[in-house]
Amino acid sequence: MALLAPSILSADFGNLDRDIDMINNSEADWFHIDVMDGVFVPNISFGFPVLEAVNKKAKKIKDTHLMIVNPDRYVETFKKSGADYLTIHYEACVHLHRTVQVIKNAGMKAGVALNPHTFIRLLEDIIQDVDLVLIMSVNPGFGGQKFIENTYGKVADTKDLIIQKNSYALIEVDGGVTLDNAKKLADAGADVLVAGSTVFNAEDPLRMIKDLKERIKS
Ligand code: DX5
Ligand code: ZN
Repeated sequence: MALLAPSILSADFGNLDRDIDMINNSEADWFHIDVMDGVFVPNISFGFPVLEAVNKKAKKIKDTHLMIVNPDRYVETFKKSGADYLTIHYEACVHLHRTVQVIKNAGMKAGVALNPHTFIRLLEDIIQDVDLVLIMSVNPGFGGQKFIENTYGKVADTKDLIIQKNSYALIEVDGGVTLDNAKKLADAGADVLVAGSTVFNAEDPLRMIKDLKERIKS
């Protein structure tokens, strides 16, 4: 059964404690936390003071997705702010292998994210070292965008690569996940689905989490 990671990017920041508690008390598996620097992506989300506040309250795995340049500079600080998984972008790392090792040596699981245009096979020489591959199913930077249909094929290609290389990496899909595409993504091989606006814009977010989990049961 695939895991569900609500993205707090779409939470109500005026009521963050309430929204974190909602996830704590829901059937969701992880917290997905999007950090944007306004350089790698055309948007700025939040920084360490917010992450620390989330960490104090959040009782599930913290899956932190960095959309920033030079992520190496902050690995230790993200660890201190409570990240369990730390995912960096392939496109933002010149020395990806080194950055992955730095994350693992700091005591976190290491993820690598790929933009929609980035070829999965570029991970061939590193797939055995990573704990998670995050496939962007929208262009990173904003919640609430339309799902890119090409993603299903990318998930299947990643699954093939993982099997071929004997890797244990999880496949995560991020962006535009809804009740309509969740099952198809899980069937294609996704292990973790991120959902931001689908959860937080729902009339009843707790119920939406339950419904999404129901869809991805296999
Ligand atoms: C986009 C972020 C996503 C975003 C998903 O750059 O990485 O995690 O929060 O939001 P939805 O589910 O609304 O597309
Ligand atoms: Zn994300």
